[in-house]
Amino acid sequence: VSNNIVVVGSMNMDIVMSAERLPKIGETILGEKVVYLPGGKGANQAVCMARLQGDVTMVGAVGNDEFGRSLKDQMESNGVKTDFIRVVDGVQTGIANIFHVNRDNCITVIPGANYTVTKERITKEVVQAIAAADVLVVQLEIPLETVQYVLGIAKQHGVKTILNPAPAQFLSPELLSLVDYLTPNETEFELLTGEHSTTDEELSALMLKWESTYHHTLIVTLGERGCAILEDGQLVVTPPPKVEVVDTTGAGDSFNGALAVGISTGQSLKETVDFAVKVSALAVTKFGAQEGMPFYEDIH
Ligand code: RIB
Ligand code: NA
Repeated sequence: VSNNIVVVGSMNMDIVMSAERLPKIGETILGEKVVYLPGGKGANQAVCMARLQGDVTMVGAVGNDEFGRSLKDQMESNGVKTDFIRVVDGVQTGIANIFHVNRDNCITVIPGANYTVTKERITKEVVQAIAAADVLVVQLEIPLETVQYVLGIAKQHGVKTILNPAPAQFLSPELLSLVDYLTPNETEFELLTGEHSTTDEELSALMLKWESTYHHTLIVTLGERGCAILEDGQLVVTPPPKVEVVDTTGAGDSFNGALAVGISTGQSLKETVDFAVKVSALAVTKFGAQEGMPFYEDIH
């Protein structure tokens, strides 16, 4: 099977501090440890796909610094094609400052080089790579204009598109009309719709309304409850297997990575989400976003 996927997205060095709790403003606390781990939503998703035997090309940028070189190396050693990762002088590699508290996290991202992934950087060669792909995957850690631009290129060439709308931000109907699969988590879906749902009935109604407006497939991730899709207008929630959660950082990325592999190999939506829920359950049993991504052999 052909399973050619292009990711246009971010690469960050994750500086992960583990502590018992978050400090308050003006307060100093002692934490437990700090580690530097490869991250960034785009890179995490690409690595996940490659480990699941996807044929993955990453389009992105890093700074001309130690972090940048190490991120690019990591992608390469995971089997991701790195020809379209630019090393840019005069900007820093993207950084994510992650507080890891009680298996959960909060994150501040400084985009740095990721914001040099402008429309102008989508060269003829990149356009050709997108045109030849089965699936294009994008997130929201590079300029929005670029996201819309590459989605448009994919659509022109009949390439399926996945948008993981993270971190959450407002998206125009023009951009949304270029998306085949939209994968918000609950908070992101709330921001997109401007509405809050407290029950499955409400969620289902919002999803139905959304799908009939934008005519694409909506997959809402629900954290420890798995994910929700609509099948013939009915809500279908796919729960994950029970696991020992160590670190939820990158859970959404592993889900999106697996989803892209499933879609690129022509699996049905239900098969694909079953697979993606399984993959992300395994990913959260390990520390770190990229490092914990499971391999094909772990799943099959
Ligand atoms: O989704 C997790 C990722 O978000 C981290 O790796 C961090 O880099 C931020 O982009
Ligand atoms: Na993990």
